[in-house]
Amino acid sequence: MRVISIANQKGGCGKTTTAINLSACLAAKGRRVLLIDLDPQGHSSMGLHIDTARLQHTVYDALGNAQGVRMALDDVILKVAENLDIAPSDLGLSAFEQNMSMVQGRETRLKETIEALYQPYDYIIIDCPPSLGLLTFNALMVLPSWNRKFAGNTRPGAQENRT
Ligand SMILES: Nc1ncnc2c1ncn2[C@@H]1O[C@H](COP(=O)(O)OP(=O)(O)OP(=O)(O)O)[C@@H](O)[C@H]1O
Ligand SMILES: [Mg+2]
Repeated sequence: MRVISIANQKGGCGKTTTAINLSACLAAKGRRVLLIDLDPQGHSSMGLHIDTARLQHTVYDALGNAQGVRMALDDVILKVAENLDIAPSDLGLSAFEQNMSMVQGRETRLKETIEALYQPYDYIIIDCPPSLGLLTFNALMVLPSWNRKFAGNTRPGAQENRT
């Protein structure tokens, strides 16, 4: 299983467009794909025709609250098309960063819920919000450490400033 987190603190630069199209293309090629909408704006969910006003469960439920109460990610996933599932989100996900501000292990909640997935996927694509807050940090913590090292490089030469 490969995980691809699509992150950029700049808004409106094509993260969601990339996430949806990459997911759809991989699914069309026969790969089993889960798109995780990690943006409280819910644009990936809306883009795949999910009515976010009627959602019973979202990624927020799988990330859990400060007391550690959470649902399995499998139980919030919706089937969108052949080989393509989504873990949807809505505005409620915006409470995660505030609720978890003092909670130990808050940056690995997404990693834990993905590791506990029952359904097998070839690819997990994560659509991040336009900020470098706790949600995006969770998406980067899912990646292997060697991959994370390069995730922060947003301009040529940035690597020279890193240890
Ligand atoms: N390659 C592209 N060429 C032209 N327009 C594009 C391209 N990719 C995305 N867009 C357009 O740019 C706008 C913003 O795209 P998108 O919603 O994917 O950005 P985003 O980075 O997810 O935004 P946000 O930070 O708000 O989540 C949309 O209107 C989209 O149609
Ligand atoms: Mg977006």
